[in-house]
Amino acid sequence: MTSLTYTVQSGGILNGTAKVPGDKSMSHRSVMFGSLANGTTEVDGFLQGEDALHTLDAFVQMGVNIERTGDNRLVIEGKGHQALTPPKDDIYLGNSGTGMRLLAGLMAGLGMPCRITGDESLALRPMGRVIKPLQSMGAAIAGDANDRPPLTLKERSTPLNAIEYDCPVVSAQVKSCVLLAGLFANGRTVVNETGITRDHTERMLKGFGVNVEVNGLSCSIEGGQSLQATSLTVPGDISSAAFFLVGASIAVGSDITLQGVGMNPSRTGIIDILRLMGAKIIVKNERVSGGEPVADLHVIGSQLTGVEIPEKLVSLAIDEFPSIFVAASVANGTTVVTGAEELRVKETDRIQVMVDGLQALGVDITGTPDGAIIKGGSIEGGTADSCGDHRTAMAFSMAALMAKNPITVLDCANVATSFPGFVELAGQMGLQISSDKA
Ligand code: S3P
Repeated sequence: MTSLTYTVQSGGILNGTAKVPGDKSMSHRSVMFGSLANGTTEVDGFLQGEDALHTLDAFVQMGVNIERTGDNRLVIEGKGHQALTPPKDDIYLGNSGTGMRLLAGLMAGLGMPCRITGDESLALRPMGRVIKPLQSMGAAIAGDANDRPPLTLKERSTPLNAIEYDCPVVSAQVKSCVLLAGLFANGRTVVNETGITRDHTERMLKGFGVNVEVNGLSCSIEGGQSLQATSLTVPGDISSAAFFLVGASIAVGSDITLQGVGMNPSRTGIIDILRLMGAKIIVKNERVSGGEPVADLHVIGSQLTGVEIPEKLVSLAIDEFPSIFVAASVANGTTVVTGAEELRVKETDRIQVMVDGLQALGVDITGTPDGAIIKGGSIEGGTADSCGDHRTAMAFSMAALMAKNPITVLDCANVATSFPGFVELAGQMGLQISSDKA
């Protein structure tokens, strides 16, 4: 892959009104569910990022006709799951843990033989968390010796057995994997969680006519239900909005509005955390679109204060910690992050990458096994290595707004997995950013 470097001049503010690209979690699921459904599903606001496009390619490989009509619209001609054909080649999912874990559940449920692979980051991510429950449902699924990808699934001609599964990790991907396998199992599959995780699978399956029961931290699904096509609009991704929420919050003088951002309560931890730190975020024009709450977010820059981040907010902001670390770097006082050990098994070890990168930029930050201690102050600037992680790359870029000197961010090509057009949009809003191919 071509190596991409961002150079971001120091200082400035963010200004203006913008829309961020569609939600990544929902974009993956829209393709999966539209492909399983009977009838034509139309999707608006689809994220044309590499991750979701790999999922799309997987279903094209399995015989589904999916038309990309421009303007982020998809038309998926679902013919029901019986019409899917086993993929002839490996399914390649690039950087996407969501793609791999959810597809593992679906393919296991369908009993379809396949091999699922990904890039070098995905190859390091733990898959035991999905292999174990799927095996206990009867699936013949295996990873490598350490339960890492690639995943290999053998054909199975009889339905899986439903299970009641107590999720040992707080993970929407694991919950979704088991629910999707349960969709094709004999009996009722139950997933019990210990913390709140995003509930797009449950909400969106309901939109496709599937009965999913949710009771607090438990959800369940009866096997053998079929999906009916629907039309849906994917809201703006709050995880992409997060970089601008943080950038505008830390750079005093900033004033931005982000339109049409998804406000699913299992995703809004970033707003709660920034507000605890003193950020001025005004939620406007709240509405419901495609079964999900959506709003416009007005952000006015202000001096933030360090806080101890309540652990109950961690899973509600799990993808936003790279930018939260940046906000903490310029806050008054100390910010303490605990209970966030899952950050160590994301696209990179996000605790280590943020600690190394922010230290290189002159920030007083110490990593801990499950988080970090960040003493807010100033950011000198310099070079930070994103280590190929889209979210750390965008977070380091925003740090330049408050840095004394320019910031160079290395290894940024994977920003295309979740936020195509980031450099252009950030530039329009006032970040002095340019990108260079090496
Ligand atoms: C996702 C769930 C989260 C999140 C990921 C997307 C999903 O992962 O980090 O970016 O779409 O279900 P975990 O469920 O493993 O925490």
